[in-house]
Amino acid sequence: MCGIVGIIGKENATDILIQGLEKLEYRGYDSAGIFVTGKDKQDHLVKSLGRIADLQTKIGPEVQGTVGIGHTRWATHGKPSERNAHPHTSSNHQFILVHNGVIENFEEIKQEFLQNKQLEGETDTEIAVHLIEHFAQNGLTTKEAMKKALTVIEGSYAFALIDKNNPDTIFVAKNKSPLLIGLGDQFNVICSDAMAMLAETNHFVEIADGEMVTVQADKIEIEDTKGNLVYRESYEAQLDLSDIEKGTYPYYMLKEIDEQPTVMRRIIQEYTDAIGDTMIDEKIVKKIIASDRIYVVACGTSYNAGWVGKALLEKMTNIPVEVHLSSEFGYNMPLLSEKPFFIFLSQSGETADSRQVLVQLNELGLPSLTLTNVAGSTLSREADYTLLLHAGPEIAVASTKAYTAQIAVLAVLAKAVGDSKKNQSSLKFDLAHELSVIAAVMETIIDEKMSISQLVEEYLSTTRNAFYIGRGVDYFVSMEASLKLKEISYIQAEGFAAGELKHGTIALIEEGTPVLGVITDRKTAAHTRGNLKEVESRGAHNFVISLGSLSKETDQLIIPDVHPLLTPLVSIIPTQLIAYFATLQRGYDVDKPRNLAKSVTVE
Ligand code: F6R
Repeated sequence: MCGIVGIIGKENATDILIQGLEKLEYRGYDSAGIFVTGKDKQDHLVKSLGRIADLQTKIGPEVQGTVGIGHTRWATHGKPSERNAHPHTSSNHQFILVHNGVIENFEEIKQEFLQNKQLEGETDTEIAVHLIEHFAQNGLTTKEAMKKALTVIEGSYAFALIDKNNPDTIFVAKNKSPLLIGLGDQFNVICSDAMAMLAETNHFVEIADGEMVTVQADKIEIEDTKGNLVYRESYEAQLDLSDIEKGTYPYYMLKEIDEQPTVMRRIIQEYTDAIGDTMIDEKIVKKIIASDRIYVVACGTSYNAGWVGKALLEKMTNIPVEVHLSSEFGYNMPLLSEKPFFIFLSQSGETADSRQVLVQLNELGLPSLTLTNVAGSTLSREADYTLLLHAGPEIAVASTKAYTAQIAVLAVLAKAVGDSKKNQSSLKFDLAHELSVIAAVMETIIDEKMSISQLVEEYLSTTRNAFYIGRGVDYFVSMEASLKLKEISYIQAEGFAAGELKHGTIALIEEGTPVLGVITDRKTAAHTRGNLKEVESRGAHNFVISLGSLSKETDQLIIPDVHPLLTPLVSIIPTQLIAYFATLQRGYDVDKPRNLAKSVTVE
């Protein structure tokens, strides 16, 4: 959340900053701003409430320079407004700062150091720039002042600072928030995510927590907390600009829904061999076999994928699995088993709620594995093991292909462990083949998207609320389907265990309330149909998504049969499309729902 960019050493700094911010908009889009300056010391600070497109309308041809920093914001401290937008300036206007993260002790800093300062906004970042100014006014150089400020500041940050009196350097520091330096020929760039600067370079240097970097056009200098110089090789980003472009799609979400069959095939390729055996690091498999309980820890959509993963892991490995919300687990840790193994599910690999759990587990010396889409992300670096999702960049805020990729990779992991334990349920399961069937069925459903659009018009066009219901894995899919619907279309949607409705929530069913039943599980199909009848007789407008062999002619959406363990991979697809079309029909921005950001790096 929040994205920062910086450039030094190129004539068109403004364009580079704006293009970079556009790529980072998934990290927050409440407000944005840039600061650019050049050798002639003409400087320009432009800020705007709203999106990068709003900022652009305020940038005139005079806004030019060779060095600059930019920011796109997801508000934490202080409401979204032009005043609270970054960059922030010090009182004497010498220092300009952008920040991604949260300064936890900003009140204390204000009391101790800044009593006489007139602050303009309500952000924690403003405190940081004033603190640097305070130390500089006490005789320190800019670099020393920033270093000193870092010893006082507690919390998470990626900072980029410009000193107007010395605009041939950008001062950068990082702690817990993502930050990369991109290397160019006589120029260098700064970004929260390589995606932002791929048009300029594909060589990046990772910055570790606690490090400070001075970035100049022809060199960068990294220092650790003790002031020692650090030399670190750059790496080549394995990303292509075309991976992050929308192409002919109107929205990233639709592109990402459509990519799911390809992702399934890529997972088969990456994780199974020519005869269909799984290829998972033996060390991971051994650690899991040695454990007596698996704990899956995640947030949001990843948490919902974790529930499906539990069903798969328990069936194939015979090891009990618990699924937990990171934000709860960290502060109310349940009684752990004697030999726990932890699996973190995180598309971004940056989610702060999950990271605080991992930090605690590392202190306790407990083994962990991260499943993530982002190689080199924080959760990947800090866990003992990583399995990549290979889903390709997911840019729409609403997660789709990462959810199905998480389930597919968990299935591979479950099979690897089950096979190693010689469990019959696992040995008999031809996962590579079943996943290829899944890919084909996904394609069939996606090809029918226009009929889903028509159904959405009929069932959801004016409703204020809706329910998804199901049992077992169909309940888990209902949880995810309702999250998708509510987060982008703003229809108040709940995912419910079908049998549980009658214990209270059924009171909410009124004439015309849409109830969407998911039926893919043979043993509970009749009961879910019974629950659908109960709501229908109280006025509900029922909509049924069912598996071919369990379907009735009156069902609205029928999905071809797939292996019973993998049904969530296909039953989720129509629900993603339902959310997409409901949002489109209501005229909202599919990719950037209000109040949200893609990567949630605050607790
Ligand atoms: C919803 C969504 C979020 C994320 C959650 C965790 O569509 O994407 O609920 O799943 O914020 O993010 P990651 O998986 O990056 O840890």
